[in-house]
Amino acid sequence: MKFFIDTANLGEIREAHEMGVLDGVTTNPSLCAKEGISDFEGFIAEICDLVEGDVSAEVVSTDFNGMLEEGRRLAGIAENVVVKVPLIKDGIKAIKTFSDEGIKTNCTLCFSTTQALVAAKAGAGYISPFVGRLDDISTDGMQLIAEIVQMYENYGYDTEVLVASIRHPMHVAEAAQLGADVSTMPFPVIEKLIKHPLTDIGLKKFLDDWNKLQDSLK
Ligand code: E4P
Repeated sequence: MKFFIDTANLGEIREAHEMGVLDGVTTNPSLCAKEGISDFEGFIAEICDLVEGDVSAEVVSTDFNGMLEEGRRLAGIAENVVVKVPLIKDGIKAIKTFSDEGIKTNCTLCFSTTQALVAAKAGAGYISPFVGRLDDISTDGMQLIAEIVQMYENYGYDTEVLVASIRHPMHVAEAAQLGADVSTMPFPVIEKLIKHPLTDIGLKKFLDDWNKLQDSLK
């Protein structure tokens, strides 16, 4: 499974990258607003310099021509830019055009299997089902992942399932068991993946015992 970080914070991207397990980055307009990003294209260029994997940059136009113009400009920033497009009618048309032009896309704001089916038919590189936001309205987000993974397998679609809106490590564990291709996570979730109290207790005991041994040898 590929790990992407879901943030517009360069410090977090750098720290996750230094761990050596980062395969890409997803951003969205809300994350950029949170960080007060004023030069979006410059910011995407900076991430692409740092990270070798796919970097999703979202268009904010909602009409076909606007999406094409924005997406082509974003795709020109670096080879690893993936144009993120919302799952609306003009978005699907734009994804089809980008796919024909060889521009990789991430189809975002997916909440149903039929949406995911149409996105795959249009040639989306990634489909981003939002599991946390479905859980928020008492609907099983991971069930949607299971259905999309199975559906894509049935027909041999190349579209990768990018599990988005992840809130906690169990989302990642379940996504991995279902065979999803990517999990995109906020930085605190990446940190929690390796956290276990027994590891901390065990390490403390190892070091205490080692120090006692050293003292006894003095
Ligand atoms: C994915 O690409 C989205 O940016 C993100 O995962 C949305 O997550 P949220 O529901 O926590 O805002």
